[in-house]
Amino acid sequence: MSLLASIPTPILAQAEEPASANSAIGWVVFAVVLIGFGVAVVLNMRRGRKEVGAELELAANRRPYISDEELEGRKLDRTLGFGLVLLAIVGVALPLYWLGEPGRQEGAVETFNEQFIGRGQELYEVGAQCVNCHGPNGVGGAAQTSLLNDRGEFVDTINWQAPALNTVLYRYSAEEVYDILQYGRQQSPMAAWGSKGGGPLTDQQLWNIIDYLETIQLPADEVRAAVDKELADTCAPDDLGKCTLPEAKFATVGEAMFNMGLYTGFAGGAYSCGRCHTAGWSWGDPGQAGGGGLGPSLTNGATVRQFPTFQSQVDFITQGAVTGKAYGAYGQAGDGTMPGFGLNPNAEEEGSLMKPDQVMYTEAQIRAVVEYERGL
Ligand code: HEC
Ligand code: HEC
Repeated sequence: MSLLASIPTPILAQAEEPASANSAIGWVVFAVVLIGFGVAVVLNMRRGRKEVGAELELAANRRPYISDEELEGRKLDRTLGFGLVLLAIVGVALPLYWLGEPGRQEGAVETFNEQFIGRGQELYEVGAQCVNCHGPNGVGGAAQTSLLNDRGEFVDTINWQAPALNTVLYRYSAEEVYDILQYGRQQSPMAAWGSKGGGPLTDQQLWNIIDYLETIQLPADEVRAAVDKELADTCAPDDLGKCTLPEAKFATVGEAMFNMGLYTGFAGGAYSCGRCHTAGWSWGDPGQAGGGGLGPSLTNGATVRQFPTFQSQVDFITQGAVTGKAYGAYGQAGDGTMPGFGLNPNAEEEGSLMKPDQVMYTEAQIRAVVEYERGL
């Protein structure tokens, strides 16, 4: 059965940028000055023509000027005083301006950042309607879509889990998120949004969205608490990592993590592995666990062959696939789709709001899931 679904793409409500008010005012001032200059020239020429021949009497230097007494007294004082005031203004204002300059630059950067974040939020909520599938503030949700068979015939209407984005920068670098937005996810309701992938948004708009996403990433302790609660509700693990709930659908912490959100919709499956490695997982109809979907099959000892040692597999899950870098014994260079679960790729970035403790899984959880995978 083909998983290809018809994808409802929201219509973009893209507003034209209004011409900046500053440039409008600039043009008005320019027009006033130009007209004023023209008027002055015309008036001057007309006056000059009337007074032809009268230059001798009218010339400024032929009129008697004020007396020496006044010239060297009040007038001189006034001129010198005026000069002093100007000097004081320059002497005080320039250092003041200089002192304020770093603050002004910071303010400008901040204003730009706020503008970018605001535009990103607008796109997320209105312009591109990411909110419809990924939920308000990126809490996760679902996309209603049609399941088609190999011949493209309608099979069923399904709800395809859309992962929470309020931890997306825990697991993907900003560049990887950019690539996902640019090209979308093939054979899923996640469309290509960037112009390079045939979508409606410019690079600038994609980066604005990522700027916005950065501001909605959850604090690490909230994530830990939410995952712990989900584990307690669906598994209630004992000290050995076995599930103790009588009605638990999973046997171990590893299996529960691999499938986190499968029956509950928790965070749109963002913490799970099954959404990529088990066909049908995302719409609640999972096939063979780890049998392969967007990600490769992990069954029949596939991961033991790929990662001869337990630790090398732990390292891979911790970091995820790095775009263009080969992994394991025979892993081809990945495209960065496999997220990292134990390292925050954005924490070291300059100016990033992300912290190194903002990671998807604890080390113990990674080990539990690796143990589960190696038995698939
Ligand atoms: C029609 C519903 C829909 C819309 C609209 C939508 N997405 Fe998605 N998105 C999805 C689904 C479903 C997935 C998961 C696809 C899969 O199973 O691989 C996804 C995946 C993603 C991912 C990858 C997350 C991960 O952890 O794998 C990112 C990032 C993302 N979307 C961001 C966005 C942004 C930003 C927008 C708005 C520009 C958006 N999406 C609009 C449905 C949608
Ligand atoms: C968003 C989709 C996605 C999620 C979620 C995901 N993976 Fe993957 N995984 C992939 C893809 C795609 C690859 C192939 C490498 C690549 O191109 O990035 C992969 C590769 C792997 C491999 C190597 C398999 C091989 O034989 O080459 C292992 C092991 C693995 N993933 C385990 C996990 C575990 C464990 C989790 C959950 C903690 C997980 N994956 C979550 C997409 C995903």
